[in-house]
Amino acid sequence: MVVLKENLMSDDLMEKLVSLCKRKGFIFQSSEIYGGLSGCWDYGPLGVELLRNIKDAWWTSMTYREDIEGIDASILMHPRVWEASGHVDGFTDPMVEDQKTNERFRLDQLLEENGIDVTGLGTDEMNVLLREHDVKSPKGNALSDARQFNLMFKTFVGPLEDESARVYLRPETAQGIFVNYLNVQQAMRQKLPFGIAQIGKAFRNEINTKNFLFRVREFEQMEMQYFVAPGTQDKWFEYWREQRWNWYQRIGLPERKLSWHEHQGDELAHYASAAFDVQYEFPYGPGEIEGIHNRSDYDLSQHEKFSGKQLKYFDEESREKFVPYVIETSIGATRTSMACLVEAYHEEEVKGDKRVVMRFHPRIAPIKAAVLPLVKRDGMPDIAHKITEDLRPYMRVTYDEGGAIGRRYRRMDEVGTPFCLTVDSDTLEDQTVTVRERDTMEQERVPIADLRSHIEGRMDSWQVP
Ligand code: GLY
Repeated sequence: MVVLKENLMSDDLMEKLVSLCKRKGFIFQSSEIYGGLSGCWDYGPLGVELLRNIKDAWWTSMTYREDIEGIDASILMHPRVWEASGHVDGFTDPMVEDQKTNERFRLDQLLEENGIDVTGLGTDEMNVLLREHDVKSPKGNALSDARQFNLMFKTFVGPLEDESARVYLRPETAQGIFVNYLNVQQAMRQKLPFGIAQIGKAFRNEINTKNFLFRVREFEQMEMQYFVAPGTQDKWFEYWREQRWNWYQRIGLPERKLSWHEHQGDELAHYASAAFDVQYEFPYGPGEIEGIHNRSDYDLSQHEKFSGKQLKYFDEESREKFVPYVIETSIGATRTSMACLVEAYHEEEVKGDKRVVMRFHPRIAPIKAAVLPLVKRDGMPDIAHKITEDLRPYMRVTYDEGGAIGRRYRRMDEVGTPFCLTVDSDTLEDQTVTVRERDTMEQERVPIADLRSHIEGRMDSWQVP
């Protein structure tokens, strides 16, 4: 068996992946029949399962513990939230305009694409570099000076479309947690340190979208804010960096493909006093999939100021009142699903034939097992249907009787189904089936009565290569 993936150029790999995602029902372009809407993608039947499995893995690891509670806050919030949080003034990207075509570009990305390192630089410093290097637009035209472009989508609540009705689509889920932190603390009788977790959609009107699911305008976040006593934030920052790093193995992203990126100077978001990104090695280079931030007491103090409400925590032991510090873990579910798709994609040569196989960790694979009667006679379909129905309450399984067995195996390989259960003539005699494993293609006989525990056991002991 020859693994071909390493030979693929990054453009080839992305092109093949995008094509497979459409063909097999993982990801479709939004509003495709109208020419698409840039920066928006739809999850198809298999994509939505993959995404749900990733979200479940995160949710169980973050909230099935004593010190973290979950919430689901509304997307639209009082507009003062975004003034307090600093997003109205500070959630901007530097934008330049092609002076002939009026196309708009993000200045930092344009400079990087021209080989100019902008790490830690502010807009004024980037403007200087733009002129020093005489950078032109991709069409070769002169560019305007940069101005700040706010990334929040704006809309209106109610029937009046004026400033008094202006609201924003949330650019991060975090603020829904901050404004509820005392509600949660009091309802659940939590003591510091404790956290609040949330999964939900967020929206950013990116100047330029690119790289498939990576830079998009509508996406899903999985965020957790951990509230701690002042003075303990550095310890918890390190704790959460370690916890989050170790989690990626659970969804099949190997450590060797991950790296840390520490934010410097102007790279730090307006709310962060320290930030580390977890980056995944995408085919075109490393990209952030998660940020771990020390948000200090910034957000809660701002909300106290803007709302006029006390948001202090009362510590019963010390009898003191204070605003907690916050360590945030903020992961993009959408970006993580793309990392899992990239990681899974393999092309191999098997006995002279090309095999495309999506090597998902079984925990996130959209379909866990396919039940296949070898032929459509001798009672094999009935047994296969019965196995399918018996497994269905416990895992996503599918039944397939169409075509030669080899072709059915390949179809399952292409969508990343880790186990194929084949009912054959021996099944009629001894009540066992062949379990064929996706990656090694090795087969073993397993009693029908043991199938569930066999599959669950192999999922639990799965080794990330
Ligand atoms: N809440 C942090 C972020 O959206 O990046």
